[in-house]
Amino acid sequence: MAQDPTVPTRPTALPALGLGTYKLTGAEGQAAIEHALALGYRHLDTAQAYGNEAEVGAAVRASGLPRHEVHVTTKLTADAFGGVDRVRAAVGTSLERLGLDAVDLVLLHWPHPWRTPEEGTYRDAAAALAALAGESGPLRGWGVSNFLPEHLDALAADGLTAAVNQIQVDPLIQQRAVQEATRRHGAAVVAYTPLGRGGDVFAHPAVRSVAQEAGVSPAQAVLAWHRAGGRVAIPRSGSPAHLAENLAAQGVALTAAQLAALDAADTGAPARQDPLTFGL
Ligand SMILES: NC(=O)c1ccc[n+]([C@@H]2O[C@H](COP(=O)([O-])OP(=O)(O)OC[C@H]3O[C@@H](n4cnc5c(N)ncnc54)[C@H](OP(=O)(O)O)[C@@H]3O)[C@@H](O)[C@H]2O)c1
Repeated sequence: MAQDPTVPTRPTALPALGLGTYKLTGAEGQAAIEHALALGYRHLDTAQAYGNEAEVGAAVRASGLPRHEVHVTTKLTADAFGGVDRVRAAVGTSLERLGLDAVDLVLLHWPHPWRTPEEGTYRDAAAALAALAGESGPLRGWGVSNFLPEHLDALAADGLTAAVNQIQVDPLIQQRAVQEATRRHGAAVVAYTPLGRGGDVFAHPAVRSVAQEAGVSPAQAVLAWHRAGGRVAIPRSGSPAHLAENLAAQGVALTAAQLAALDAADTGAPARQDPLTFGL
């Protein structure tokens, strides 16, 4: 039976389908986010680096939904890495831009493993997030993004367990070793760029034939595969039709053979950006 990827991050759970908001900026971006909330999306993924926390927060307020019904994730850039004071200030900057009292999940966007203790490391920042997180504080939960197994090992050595590791996963780039390490360390896998931004993923013969056989779109086939694999997925769309299509994929169940066909599409390639050298 498919595992339910909903992640319990008290007091709200992280819904298995979220809206990625990279590039959803300005009035047009905000309108797309508001439309997503009206359709039924209850999980929004933003980041300081996307420059759209204001639009995300404004969309949440404009939706008229009770705040606790919408899960908002944001991500800190490396400028925030350091002790509790620096991290608290960075979270405060995000809350100000969002116009919200609290954020549900705060992630370290990239590990920046080259940073020195004087500059502030991901280990310091994770410890600070863990100290700040709680039901009554400015952040409910915390996690990481683009962390490789060695970075998760380092956090474990410090006694720190992230709620999620947000990593690139699509049928062609599955990063299985990173997924396994994430789960072994007690974190949930959140798949970013879950559709591979269309293109090669939608054109892949396995994706095309599974979608055709199941009578769904390629995007829906891929999202159903993520869900069956126990991953939270955060596809982005600015198109009302695609937003609705992606939400409806939650009701799509693929057969074991169809899931195996998508599993077999893995190229073994690493994420497009290497966390050992790239960061924001
Ligand atoms: N943590 C990180 O480092 C990191 C890195 C990258 C991304 N992310 C997060 O992950 C989110 C999603 O990733 P992404 O934006 O890179 O790529 P994605 O969600 O895989 O793909 C987005 C593209 O797919 C198209 N699309 C969406 N639904 C579709 C559908 N049903 N049919 C056809 N085309 C469809 C969209 O076009 P339309 O707008 O026309 O629908 C858009 O061009 C981001 O927005 C961001 O929140 C995180």
